[in-house]
Amino acid sequence: MPNTILVGAQWGDEGKGKVIDVLTSQADVIVRFQGGSNAGHTVITGGKKFVLHLIPSGILHPGKQCVIGNGVVMDPFDLIKEINDLREQGIETDGRLFISDRTHMVMQWHRALDAADEARRSQDKKIGTTGRGIGPAYGAKMGRSGVRVGNLLSPAFLDMVRVDTATANATLAAWGAQTLDVEELVAKYAQASKTLAPYIADTVAYVNEADRAGKSILLEGAQGTMLDIDFGTYPFVTSSNPTSGGACTGSGLSPRRIDRVIGVIKCYTTRVGAGPFPTELTDATGEHLRQKGGEFGATTGRPRRCGWFDAVVGRYSAMVNGVDFWAMTKLDVLDEQPVIKICTAYLRDDGVRYETFPADLCVLDRCKPVYEELPGWLTPTSHITRYEDLPLKARTYVERLVALVGGRLGILSVGPARETTLRMGL
Ligand code: IMP
Repeated sequence: MPNTILVGAQWGDEGKGKVIDVLTSQADVIVRFQGGSNAGHTVITGGKKFVLHLIPSGILHPGKQCVIGNGVVMDPFDLIKEINDLREQGIETDGRLFISDRTHMVMQWHRALDAADEARRSQDKKIGTTGRGIGPAYGAKMGRSGVRVGNLLSPAFLDMVRVDTATANATLAAWGAQTLDVEELVAKYAQASKTLAPYIADTVAYVNEADRAGKSILLEGAQGTMLDIDFGTYPFVTSSNPTSGGACTGSGLSPRRIDRVIGVIKCYTTRVGAGPFPTELTDATGEHLRQKGGEFGATTGRPRRCGWFDAVVGRYSAMVNGVDFWAMTKLDVLDEQPVIKICTAYLRDDGVRYETFPADLCVLDRCKPVYEELPGWLTPTSHITRYEDLPLKARTYVERLVALVGGRLGILSVGPARETTLRMGL
């Protein structure tokens, strides 16, 4: 398989896990390149259920090597829990999992600051974060005061924990939040550094050596384009770059070594957390999509907001990521809709039409989606295993989405089972 970047094209939860599972079988090395334990995906294989937040699901495939790239922010306690859970279920990570020495860590004070920051914001300013410390950890990285995985091996590490906890405690106290016990944390980090030491590696060199040796590399993103710190609905975004550019900066593999970009996109739209969502449905149709699509957050269990497919978002994602192929997911969730709407553009209250996503949320506030309607197919599709066997109206819908966003369809998923991942050239 060529070197591939896989990204989410909407607000996350596009069903990347299932697509990654299919592509992993053709890859040698799977690299997670951004985000942290805010992502979550559940994989059911061989009758066992695995919940992964940081480790690429490639770990469940024997013989695959997995990397937590430098662009990730990794909470050592979460990672140790994941390693232990996998071990209990018979999956060994030793010798197959490598953590970049350049990866920044989410420390306990980042989690505490994340929660305290959300709590002190007024209702309209709350981001609705996952509470996993992501913003403060990336903030520290960019502010050049972060803690990297490589620091775990340094004799000065525990002093760093002492100083940083005390600094964070001052802020927490000022915000009226509970402070942290410094010595308790020092003891926990001393233990964590011993457990994780064998996994630490120069993964930039490792990934590039694998590439030179002709191995195929899958760079896997978490979250989605509209949650990107630069291209998303700022400030209602996550703190990393889930877009294809982030795959290179978050792994150390050069853009010149990338062969293709796959965008994962759901046949409707969802979003979890606060922020703009032009095609949101707050009525019974939205509720139907939520129930039928099982749209509840994998990390926090929160109900996801649901709405129609937004081709403005799709087109923008295609542009920003350079999507070659689409993996479209969850078509079957629309099986019972008599009429299906697609948003093709936004219209501002003064008549200005937007074909691409505006940066200014005040502009977005003044916009309404322009919809076109297609008839639903009103037939179950989740048992179908060949594209040609789909009802004509379902194919017309899918082909209309592809025509609106550009690029080619590579995968269409019509149900949770592996066999319902219809493959067209991928
Ligand atoms: P954070 O990443 O925890 O800081 O949360 C920032 C925003 O990104 C919130 O709206 C979250 O709900 C959203 N978010 C973070 N991770 C995911 C994800 O994996 N899927 C969907 N939304 C996410």
